[in-house]
Amino acid sequence: MTSFWNTLPRPIIGLAPMDGVTDHPFRHIQKRYGNPDLLVTEFVRVERLAAGEMKLLRMLLYDESQRPIAAQVYGTTPAAFRAVAVLLCRLGFDGIDINMGCPSSSVAENGAGAGLIRTPELATEIIAATRAGVADWHNGATAWDLPDLPPEVAELVEMTHAQLPPRFQQQRSIPVSVKTRIGYDQPQVDNWIPHLLDAAPAAIGIHGRTLAQAYGGRADWDAIGRAVELARGSGTLVLGNGDVANRIDGLARTRAFGVDGVLIGRASHGNPFVFCADPDDPHESMQGDGVAGSQFPLLAIAAEHAALFEASLSEWPSYSFHLMHKHLRWYARRVPGARALRRKLIEARTAADVHHVLEGYRFSCGQPERVA
Ligand SMILES: Cc1cc2nc3c(=O)[nH]c(=O)nc-3n(C[C@H](O)[C@H](O)[C@H](O)COP(=O)(O)O)c2cc1C
Repeated sequence: MTSFWNTLPRPIIGLAPMDGVTDHPFRHIQKRYGNPDLLVTEFVRVERLAAGEMKLLRMLLYDESQRPIAAQVYGTTPAAFRAVAVLLCRLGFDGIDINMGCPSSSVAENGAGAGLIRTPELATEIIAATRAGVADWHNGATAWDLPDLPPEVAELVEMTHAQLPPRFQQQRSIPVSVKTRIGYDQPQVDNWIPHLLDAAPAAIGIHGRTLAQAYGGRADWDAIGRAVELARGSGTLVLGNGDVANRIDGLARTRAFGVDGVLIGRASHGNPFVFCADPDDPHESMQGDGVAGSQFPLLAIAAEHAALFEASLSEWPSYSFHLMHKHLRWYARRVPGARALRRKLIEARTAADVHHVLEGYRFSCGQPERVA
């Protein structure tokens, strides 16, 4: 069975997973206007998802335009990874990515995320357990077979499964990949990466910082290049990550460091055009209503994003339009009078408020497409 990784263009220019950012509306907008080769969800804690915490399913929403899409998960309990793998296969994801890179104390100090760099045996067990869950699905397991999942959650998962296009309901290869860092306190690529390679993940996304560095300093691309050397001939792809500004920068780094592709994170905030062939002249990407003719295409996209955010998330528990404000601030960075505009935008309480504020910028707002 062919893995989706083998169908991607080379080099791969993907969107990095970001908690609180890469939700369904953000991914939809990035795909529509930038068309990254790969999307990944925000990370979801397996222990909570396996226990059926309904609101986590919101983080796993996507629509068909977003393929190929991998779901990212984190945690420390192999049995929960196995159960969640069944659930993610039933939801139709194309791949499962395991987070072994998050530096946040609430994650890493509990041994998850980058904490797994310190417990490599557990990291191996988790990869194996996730694969075992994919095998359970191949053997016919459904959400109803997961013992800790409340019936209402199993029902929602199975209803979603029934609505998938037939080819995504069928058995197919669901590869397991890992996203990690170059080390915990110090770079330790020479022992950590071979350890991961022994477990043969389909791909390793590697952020060129240690946990201790969090997001400070510059990403160490020489260390990423070393990971490429170690992975050569293994069959595992290596995606470099950290400080990539846009597609052109990403292509230069693939040539310089030999990676199979890159993941772009923060540079995509408020600007899907970073994925375009020419990020400064993204005319081929501006097909949305009101975007092509706009003097400020990113503001037209902001209005569309706000409408999609409200349309797709407002029915979910603990919905708040406040979560849209950071995106609005990012979209408004590069326009004349940005500071005053940002002030107005963060007072918006609805998508209609956003539309109203942006109308002064003389563009017509696109309507969001209907999404699942
Ligand atoms: C707000 C934020 C949230 C993030 N959440 C995740 C996450 O859920 N999973 C993950 O693997 N990495 C996460 N990351 C790390 C990014 O995927 C990426 O590794 C990092 O931002 C470096 O890439 P960049 O320089 O292109 O932003 C997050 C980063 C940011 C800024």
